[in-house]
Amino acid sequence: MKRGRIFIPIVSAGIVILAAISATGNSMIGSKHDLGYLNQRAFGSEVGPMQGAAYNDYKEICVYCHTPHNADTIAPLWNRQSPSTTSYKVYSSPNFDSQNNGPDGISLACLSCHDGTVAVDAVLTQPKSREIIDTGVHYKMKPGGAEAGGDACGKCHSRSSGAYGGLSGAHDATLKYLETDLTNDHPVSMSLPSYNIDPGFNQPTIPSKDGGRAFPNGVKTFAGDKVQCASCHNPHDPDEKNSDGRDPFLRTSNKYSALCLTCHQK
Ligand code: HEC
Ligand code: HEC
Ligand code: HEC
Ligand code: HEC
Ligand code: HEC
Repeated sequence: MKRGRIFIPIVSAGIVILAAISATGNSMIGSKHDLGYLNQRAFGSEVGPMQGAAYNDYKEICVYCHTPHNADTIAPLWNRQSPSTTSYKVYSSPNFDSQNNGPDGISLACLSCHDGTVAVDAVLTQPKSREIIDTGVHYKMKPGGAEAGGDACGKCHSRSSGAYGGLSGAHDATLKYLETDLTNDHPVSMSLPSYNIDPGFNQPTIPSKDGGRAFPNGVKTFAGDKVQCASCHNPHDPDEKNSDGRDPFLRTSNKYSALCLTCHQK
């Protein structure tokens, strides 16, 4: 009977995981977080300036973020090199109740692409495929311009710079490059204040699998009851047609500021 006891929890964890990814039917396959698909997104065929030319094409989807073995514990089975935590400028304001020691956990995981200090293909473990060709280019999600150096995605994806920066070229992604100055971003990696500290916050009531608490609409906190990038965003669920009002990768619609009002009483 011992064997049965071990087996059952593993099976049910698998079902929960599948349900979580496909819950709203917006698959991440073919989304902007599918780095194996960006060439097809742009031109509808394999030719294009992206994977293989700006970064290694690992011919897999999940591997840019997850690995089954030898993972980093900052996020589930995390497969990415972490950015240096010393370089961030963090949010502060006179009204700010929370302690903000800089990004950690899931937020650091997101920033491993979005702050532009680590290449998008800088994984801990590459898949064991003979087809992978390292072309030696490992671009980072940072704005272009002379100061950015030769490895900035922004040298094509900034309006102002680069051969592809014109009207007919690459889209302007500057807003998606958060960089290391987080003073102009919603604060992350601080605990949601309890009612006693600040009654202006709604309190989530559902225990979440991630060690925090969740609201019924899916907005949640992570270990240490912390608000992280993934409190508001679901990196697997793009809703790019915005049919539910959840584009870009939001956990719940922000129509009439519903996302904000999930936590803030205003
Ligand atoms: C762009 C990065 C990225 C890619 C690509 C990615 N994930 Fe994730 N994944 C994350 C992050 C960040 C978390 C932790 C935050 C969260 O739970 O939403 C996570 C959490 C998870 C979890 C645990 C939490 C949950 O939602 O159940 C599973 C399982 C998972 N990912 C599976 C996958 C699979 C399978 C793929 C490939 C089809 C994939 N992921 C691709 C970033 C990514
Ligand atoms: C492996 C690299 C990688 C990681 C890790 C990653 N992202 Fe992204 N993300 C991207 C790329 C590439 C884009 C597309 C940028 C562009 O439009 O040029 C993107 C776009 C986005 C967008 C905008 C989507 C849109 O439709 O414009 C959001 C929101 C986002 N990411 C949130 C997150 C969050 C939150 C996390 C962590 C939970 C995360 N990302 C982790 C690579 C990554
Ligand atoms: C040599 C120029 C060039 C470089 C460098 C480059 N791109 Fe692109 N990218 C393009 C062009 C051109 C397109 C097609 C037009 C478009 O969709 O913006 C494109 C398309 C994309 C798309 C698909 C947009 C969509 O909505 O379908 C994403 C996402 C993207 N690039 C991300 C990146 C990332 C991340 C990097 C750096 C790792 C990068 N690109 C580097 C030129 C470039
Ligand atoms: C408190 C909720 C919240 C948190 C926390 C949060 N975001 Fe967002 N984010 C949003 C909303 C809402 C939008 C859509 C804004 C809009 O509609 O223009 C957004 C937009 C984005 C975009 C797309 C920007 C654009 O205009 O194209 C990126 C990329 C992004 N977030 C990444 C992150 C990352 C990385 C983190 C963590 C460092 C993070 N977000 C934390 C709520 C949040
Ligand atoms: C997951 C819960 C959560 C969500 C969703 C959320 N916030 Fe916050 N927000 C917080 C927490 C926690 C703080 C830190 C409060 C503090 O310590 O004073 C904060 C801080 C802020 C601050 C700064 C307050 C100050 O004292 O400087 C503003 C402004 C803000 N949020 C606006 C928004 C907006 C706009 C949205 C929707 C796009 C949003 N928040 C969504 C939890 C959330």
